[in-house]
Amino acid sequence: MWSVLAGSAFPWGTQLTLLAVSPLILLLLISLAIPRRLRGIPYNRGITTWFLGDIPSMVSHIRRKPEMYTWLSAQNVKLGSPIVQVSVRPFTAPWVIVTDFREAQDVLTRRTKTFDRATFIEKVFGTLIPNGMITMKSDDPRLHTNKILVRGFMAPTTLNEAIAPQMYKRTLQVMELWKVKAKLARGHPFEMIHDMANAAFDAIAGAVFNLGDAESIISAQIRLLSTLGSVPVPEDDDAAAVHFPKAPMPPIADAIITLTDSIVVAFRSPLSRWHHWLLSQTPRMRKAYTIKENMITHYLESAAKRLLESPGNITCLLDDLLQNELVAAAKEKRAPDYKSRAVYDELYEMVIGGYETTSATVLWGLKHLSNNQDAQTRLRTELQRALLPQVGNRFPTVEEIIGLRVPYLDAVMEEIFRMALIASAHVRTATEDTTLLGHFIPKGTDVFLALNGPGFTSPPFPIREELRSRTSQEAKGEVRDWDFSTFGEFRPERWLVRDKLGNEVVDLSAAPQMLFSLGPRSCFGRRLGVLSIKITLVCVVWAFDLERVPDELNSFEGAEVLSRMPIQGYLKLRERSFPSALT
Ligand code: HEM
Repeated sequence: MWSVLAGSAFPWGTQLTLLAVSPLILLLLISLAIPRRLRGIPYNRGITTWFLGDIPSMVSHIRRKPEMYTWLSAQNVKLGSPIVQVSVRPFTAPWVIVTDFREAQDVLTRRTKTFDRATFIEKVFGTLIPNGMITMKSDDPRLHTNKILVRGFMAPTTLNEAIAPQMYKRTLQVMELWKVKAKLARGHPFEMIHDMANAAFDAIAGAVFNLGDAESIISAQIRLLSTLGSVPVPEDDDAAAVHFPKAPMPPIADAIITLTDSIVVAFRSPLSRWHHWLLSQTPRMRKAYTIKENMITHYLESAAKRLLESPGNITCLLDDLLQNELVAAAKEKRAPDYKSRAVYDELYEMVIGGYETTSATVLWGLKHLSNNQDAQTRLRTELQRALLPQVGNRFPTVEEIIGLRVPYLDAVMEEIFRMALIASAHVRTATEDTTLLGHFIPKGTDVFLALNGPGFTSPPFPIREELRSRTSQEAKGEVRDWDFSTFGEFRPERWLVRDKLGNEVVDLSAAPQMLFSLGPRSCFGRRLGVLSIKITLVCVVWAFDLERVPDELNSFEGAEVLSRMPIQGYLKLRERSFPSALT
């Protein structure tokens, strides 16, 4: 300190004042950093926790198991309470963790004025898409404008006529890639995580921008593998996986994925947005950002030209947004405004929202189907029963897949959604002082509604009825008393019941499932996500037998990137010859 001041350019008077106040500033910073606690809500105690909060415990958990959300709900189990508080971000209020289906449903669907889009989520996405709806509170005046921009995105005509063909085309490319891989692998397992993530990127980027084939990662991979006559196969070990070379990423895909993957820093780091902002200043990130911006400008300009010449030819979400703006501008006799920050961020937000989420969900789904051969066989049989009469000895078309009404397929998807837990908590911030399960929650508190603990994956904590909110008490009868004894198993049948006419239908209240969240701020892209997953599942099960993968490659451990991904994701595929009768 002395040597720093001695070399300083400040006059002596200033230096002495600095010297006198600096311990005070230090003390102030320390006192601000010491975790504050909410009265009455259980928390971890101990000397380190007194000073550093729960950071050391969470960091050491993440080192062993790269998942923050499993650590959060583990604190409820450890402290034996459906509501606990943890302190994992310096200088900020503690987070409250709740694990109870009824309370989560109540907060998300009925207490929407009191609990809104979380500050935590704003910080995670705020550096990359500050004008995307996901970063906005519900009373933000910009939200209304953004909702107008995207209002046609999830309309059945847009999805079925423009988006589904894009996703189907990309899914068929993955089938082609996996046929090549299955042949080269000669019965050995191979890794699917990258293929599925790349396929999801191709599909969602195709759906949003109608990116050309030159930008498809899977096409590049097929081109590379088709030049190979063989790959090294471990002949003496049937359980060993075969590895394939990876094609270089096309530049636009590379830039968008680099940017999107960087969000994980804001998600994981205790310094959250600050850390992500610093990262975004590096030359690599700046270059990726410029490529992404130039790409959007290019696609906007060429689509505007095309739509002015032939209106109504919608091929992707960007076209839909532009068409609406062109019509509105013509009506209001003004120049179209399609280069606002809201347009850029909303389009990119769709890629961020849809890319990792859908691939993670399909990855968990394929793992469950290969581990549960009876469910896979029944799914294939039901699909054949529905499709064979018109499809016969070929691949189903996208229209035939969209038109499928197969309750067992819906049940398989619900069961995958229940078990995937790719976003294991939904987060809300209290907009005013309030109470939750009988405890005072000050305005501004981030509340994590865990989906991976008691009430979802194991029996709930007992909660006295009078501790619940008025709205929760009024809706008591809406939630069933579930039997949790089989919830660790993949059993699609649990979702099926008979209606009055004796037909099999899906009962959505059969088990706790809220993967896409609930209420007015739940997933905007749910329909697109579900459609994409449906297309992928039907194509995979039609084209291949998913054999069980050897145990050493078959762990169900997860890792959180932005979504929770399986750490091991292997496929052991046998190509099917297309059936002309039920098999
Ligand atoms: C399996 C696929 C998907 C899952 C599991 C999923 C899950 C979620 C979740 C949990 C949220 C937060 C909701 C909340 O805070 O209550 C969310 C929000 C959002 N999702 Fe998805 N999502 C998926 C696919 C998609 C797709 C395909 C898109 C875009 C095409 C998308 C766009 C969005 C957007 C824009 C939001 C913010 C909504 C708002 O601010 O009101 N998602 N999603």
